Amino acid sequence: MLKEQNLISEIKKLKKKKKAVILVHNYQLPEIYEVADFIGDSLELSRKAAETTAKVIVFCGVDFMAESAKILNPDKMVLLPVLEAKCPMAGQVSIEKLRKLQRKHPEAATVCYINTTAETKAVCDICCTSANAIKIVNSLPNKKIIFVPDKNLANYVSRRTDKEIISWPGFCYVHQQFRADEVKKAKEIFTRAETIAHPECPPEVIDLADYVCSTSQMLKRAKESKAKEFIILTEVGMLERLKREVPEKKFYSAPAKICIQQKKNRLEAVYNSLLLERYKIRLSEEIRSKAKKALTKMLEISYGK
Ligand code: 13P
Ligand code: SF4
Repeated sequence: MLKEQNLISEIKKLKKKKKAVILVHNYQLPEIYEVADFIGDSLELSRKAAETTAKVIVFCGVDFMAESAKILNPDKMVLLPVLEAKCPMAGQVSIEKLRKLQRKHPEAATVCYINTTAETKAVCDICCTSANAIKIVNSLPNKKIIFVPDKNLANYVSRRTDKEIISWPGFCYVHQQFRADEVKKAKEIFTRAETIAHPECPPEVIDLADYVCSTSQMLKRAKESKAKEFIILTEVGMLERLKREVPEKKFYSAPAKICIQQKKNRLEAVYNSLLLERYKIRLSEEIRSKAKKALTKMLEISYGK
């Protein structure tokens, strides 16, 4: 087994040789940050995937993120280093049940969180991420919106829009674990801290936050805020990112929650992924082209392209 530093330099060599780019989600382990070309949230990463001129995209995150890269780049090789790195929430939509709901509300538009499979995206009108959900919902002419799969994000949006939101009973098992009583306790201990929550948290936790935003927006806020301490209510990997990027400030969790699936990527798997060109994301052209419409619409509204 190669040592960590050796692995990092071998990955960088292979990356050059194969004309690859390594896109890394904020929740990844610090060792993975070391080989990243770009680290970001789901929205930023999908934009990077749409723009890259690399021949190969290695996605260090979870399945739906790599799938989104493939949806946008049918001719590029998109690799997910570990097959088991699957977001459980992305698998919570039944296409049959969603179609039934769409038939029941023909006047509604369907918005899907980017944390969904390509099959789900293919039957939706537009995607959104935690960074732009309110903007995407408000951009639609429809008064009624079917929102899949995260009930917490749906609830968060519904309280900030005039639209009627029909939500799906999905959730993220990581953010669902945050509890209001524990957050209150943390606020009592860290009295000067600003509280920042991810919108996948339950509503009673969101209500205790000063800021609610995507992971990369947390980084921006931490840099810009006058506060010197923060209680961060999202997956624990984000605290690593924040501590690295804003070392002069302090970050606490309440308490730490881990996404096991995001932590499956290790340097050795990234090295093998590049070396053996595995695991390739494959999508049927019919699904991919339909899913692309939903993703592209989101990118157009977010970035005005
Ligand atoms: P972000 O897009 O905010 O990084 O969220 C991704 C995710 O999976 C949150 O659990
Ligand atoms: Fe999926 Fe939740 Fe893990 Fe994000 S933190 S990848 S939503 S299970």
